[in-house]
Amino acid sequence: MNLFVSGGAGYIGSIFVEEALNAGHRVTVYDNLSEGHRAAVDPRAGLVTGDLEESERLTDALSAARPEAIIHFAANALVGESMTNPGKYFLNNVGNGVRLLEAVVKVGVGKFVFSSTCAVYGTPARLPMTEDLPLQPVNPYGESKRMFERILEWYQQLHGLEFVAFRYFNAAGASERLGEHHRIETHLIPNVLKVALGQADHCEIFGADYPTPDGTCIRDYIHVRDLAQAHLLALAPGKRGVFNLGNGSGYSVREVIDACAQVSGCRIPALERPRRPGDPPRLVAGATRAVQELGWQPRYPGLQTIVESAWRWHRAHPQGYAE
Ligand code: UFG
Repeated sequence: MNLFVSGGAGYIGSIFVEEALNAGHRVTVYDNLSEGHRAAVDPRAGLVTGDLEESERLTDALSAARPEAIIHFAANALVGESMTNPGKYFLNNVGNGVRLLEAVVKVGVGKFVFSSTCAVYGTPARLPMTEDLPLQPVNPYGESKRMFERILEWYQQLHGLEFVAFRYFNAAGASERLGEHHRIETHLIPNVLKVALGQADHCEIFGADYPTPDGTCIRDYIHVRDLAQAHLLALAPGKRGVFNLGNGSGYSVREVIDACAQVSGCRIPALERPRRPGDPPRLVAGATRAVQELGWQPRYPGLQTIVESAWRWHRAHPQGYAE
């Protein structure tokens, strides 16, 4: 298929693009390179550098690409930042997302695949979290994604734009060539691996007094290549709806630090810090809907395998992508 990928130079987007090209699709990436990297865009893809805010540029890029489906990754995605700068999240994740939808309707594209998040659920009343749980986000990031899911429902109803929204749990790991490089790194695994690389002398644990067995937050880590594969399955005709993407296993912050120490063979000192605002204590996916309805099968479900792939990439690219 001919695919138009917003945010295709970012961490998850770039690895999706690589998998899509390997599967025989054609890809145009649209990215403002604010979080993404030119070097992360597979040379087999076309790259248009632009912002979703630039409606004319966006419409021109869509008209030129004539895609059959849109995969919309471009967004701001930091829970902590959304608590201090909510406006950034609503303006970009909601406002600019609507600009994309308007352009898509104008040009006439039938399918839209959206990167949502388990943060739409907030603090879940039960685990594992299935798609029917109430949506009660506890941070503006999750709220912005929930709002956009609802907007997609209206576009589906009113414009016939078929959509799939994937509620990601914690994306992690790397492919052979592509990995996680945020200019300001806030994510757990890359920050812990910085210690193993000798770029920091300790990592930080945000909250050791949560109601969990070791007092630290529990998350469901999912290999970024497994995430990417689910998006390819969503392109099949007739697939629509919301799907969780996670492995169904939760690991605490301390367990992740231990896994990083084991994989790298390095000692990783950790300092306990106060809780980070907006962090729910436990998030673990129930993802049977994606397995049953899309035929999704995670190939790299184990934390150890995920961390190994991340470690390989960070060791090969200690400074991340060249700017
Ligand atoms: N954490 C630390 N130390 C760090 C970094 C993180 O203790 O240096 C903790 C966090 O407080 C959290 C856990 O490790 O408890 C995971 O934090 P991340 O920042 O790696 O990931 P988040 O769970 O906050 O958020 C990520 C994505 C979101 C997505 C969410 C879904 O960034 O886009 O997963 O769980 F919505």
